[in-house]
Amino acid sequence: MTDKKSFYITTPIYYPSGKLHIGNAYTNIASDVLARYKRLMGYDVFYLTGLDEHGQKIQEKAAEAGKSPQTYVDEVAEDVQKLWQLLDISHDKFIRTTDKDHEAVVAQIFERLLAQDDIYLGEYSGWYSVSDEEFFTENQLAEVFRDADGRVTGGIAPSGHEVKWVSEESYFLRLSKYADRLVAFYQEHPEFIQPHGRMNEMLKNFIEPGLEDLAVSRTSFTWGVKVPSNPKHVVYVWIDALSNYISALGYGTSDTKTFDQFWPADIHMLGKDILRFHSIYWPVLLMALDLPLPKRLIAHGWFVMQDGKMSKSKGNVVYPEMLVERYGLDALRYYLMRSLPVGSDGTFTPEDYVGRINYELANDLGNLLNRTVAMINKYFDGEIPSYQENVTSFDASLAETVAENIKSYHNYMEAVDFPKVLDSIWQIIARTNKYIDETTPWILAKEEKTQELASVMSHLAASLRVVAHLIQPFMMITATGIMTQLGLDNTYHLETISLESLPANLTVVKKGEPLFPRLDMEEEIAYIKEQMSGKQTTEKPWDPAEVELVNEKDAIKFDLFDKVEIRVAEVKDVQKVPGSDKLLQFRLDAGDGEDRQILSGIAKYYPNPEELIGQKLQIVANLKPRKMMGLLSQGMILSAEHDGQLTILTVDQKVPNGSQIG
Ligand code: ME8
Ligand code: MG
Repeated sequence: MTDKKSFYITTPIYYPSGKLHIGNAYTNIASDVLARYKRLMGYDVFYLTGLDEHGQKIQEKAAEAGKSPQTYVDEVAEDVQKLWQLLDISHDKFIRTTDKDHEAVVAQIFERLLAQDDIYLGEYSGWYSVSDEEFFTENQLAEVFRDADGRVTGGIAPSGHEVKWVSEESYFLRLSKYADRLVAFYQEHPEFIQPHGRMNEMLKNFIEPGLEDLAVSRTSFTWGVKVPSNPKHVVYVWIDALSNYISALGYGTSDTKTFDQFWPADIHMLGKDILRFHSIYWPVLLMALDLPLPKRLIAHGWFVMQDGKMSKSKGNVVYPEMLVERYGLDALRYYLMRSLPVGSDGTFTPEDYVGRINYELANDLGNLLNRTVAMINKYFDGEIPSYQENVTSFDASLAETVAENIKSYHNYMEAVDFPKVLDSIWQIIARTNKYIDETTPWILAKEEKTQELASVMSHLAASLRVVAHLIQPFMMITATGIMTQLGLDNTYHLETISLESLPANLTVVKKGEPLFPRLDMEEEIAYIKEQMSGKQTTEKPWDPAEVELVNEKDAIKFDLFDKVEIRVAEVKDVQKVPGSDKLLQFRLDAGDGEDRQILSGIAKYYPNPEELIGQKLQIVANLKPRKMMGLLSQGMILSAEHDGQLTILTVDQKVPNGSQIG
């Protein structure tokens, strides 16, 4: 046990039925933001995510791939964990429903409910959608197919997936027995389902018409947790899946320390597609187990494409890996959290993605930092003047806006309204940019109003420090970048952050790197569209380690590298340039049909340069020619330097002169 306040947050456990897309990334990043926020606010946090690996759908997917279900899920599990690593998801546990300890807890729960008569054996017949792992009655179907005699032969579930007729012996959970208690719980806890409107939807559509007992076992396939007392039945995948939220904490094992500390969950994050399972089946299971119910279900909307829901066959899927590779992690985290309105759907468009990076990140935030660091360097030799209140007539209004928005930031975070949280931060950024226009530091400098100029600089730095604190749960790299440029270390005091707590004696960095490079809109929109159409290499295996090595700002695009023409050239003749102790004059055959002359300042490493005659070297062939000591040099010879030693890079004799290197 600990004295700290605890916070338990979960994501859905995803089906390993394909590559995860930005929709799944959204849920995990949203949960990550809350987990990081609560940690910064002093909470002891447990953040759970994982995979839902059993069920008919996965068994079929594995068969399609020609793999055993276990091999198949092991492979996907590895990819998914790489993705979370790439997105810097700070989960405390990654649960897989094939974990042996989870399976044991599911079997135990099932047997207990059976012994209590909350579960009983019966006969099930109805329509089953394998994709949704969900049963439907005929009138719940979106579409019904009939034969010539009017008999129903099949149908389509509300999700758009086909249903199959299933008739088999099945165990049932007595949902009906708990309906009244569930309704009472909803009434006593209006905050249980968010957005609140969805609570009424659950009541009207599912609970009030009367809850039917739920089929909770299947006999037509084997990939699942077997019912110990009747092993031809496997536990229905949703009972298996929902139990992860307690099995992950050690419920039902000999060590329930973590469970005792963290249950009930503070937040289950989920998409609106699975609210029914979380708001009806899960509470009933918990009531039957005599456990407290979770505090809040946050049901977010979907990311959709302009032409509807994301789908591979439509060629409109966008994968997080590609966006991170091209635009960095923080841009993706920012975009996803900024553009999905609370509770409703949002549209992903390449235009919006590139636009937000340019306007909101590069312009509003990036420029503010650049200008601030540059001015503090210029006017105060890099030292941030100490913070004082009310020196210029604009200081008070800036301070007020900052204080107000810090408050609304916390309120919106509690309400899990990410666009509004970010909007609060951008209000501060906009007000601070305006403050520069109002105070005109360049005029204060010209008029030598040093005290006012000092106040302006400290206010700018203080405001950016506040911004770095507030964006930390969303954009860790950017927050660190701002703190570093302001001469602060990477430690945060989010609970007490304010303008006036700016520490004294800070020195900004000399030349700040831009946080976000400005993008060529047209080029980048075209790039994202091309990637989405699947023409490009989005499916390539991903190595997060590789991404971290590339500093976005120093990286060059391939087409730039591709313009450099490196070729193999043979040394025909070489001699020292008279009057120079540095230069060697080479005559080379670079496959041009005529000799090329290149001058190279490497004489001191080759006291006997004639040894090089006949060797094959690498030259940059399309460098602009220039003159040295009156002699024309047409290119550059590549060499390697190490510990003050320099060696020309030679090439195997069998490579023809003029061969392209690349
Ligand atoms: O339902 N936009 O798994 P699942 C936003 N295994 N979020 C999206 C999205 C989109 N376009 N598409 C998917 C399951 N999601 C069960 C869950 S939990 C005990 C078991 C997110 O792989 C959203 O969070 O179908 C949604 O609820 C979840 O992925 C569904 O993932
Ligand atoms: Mg689904």
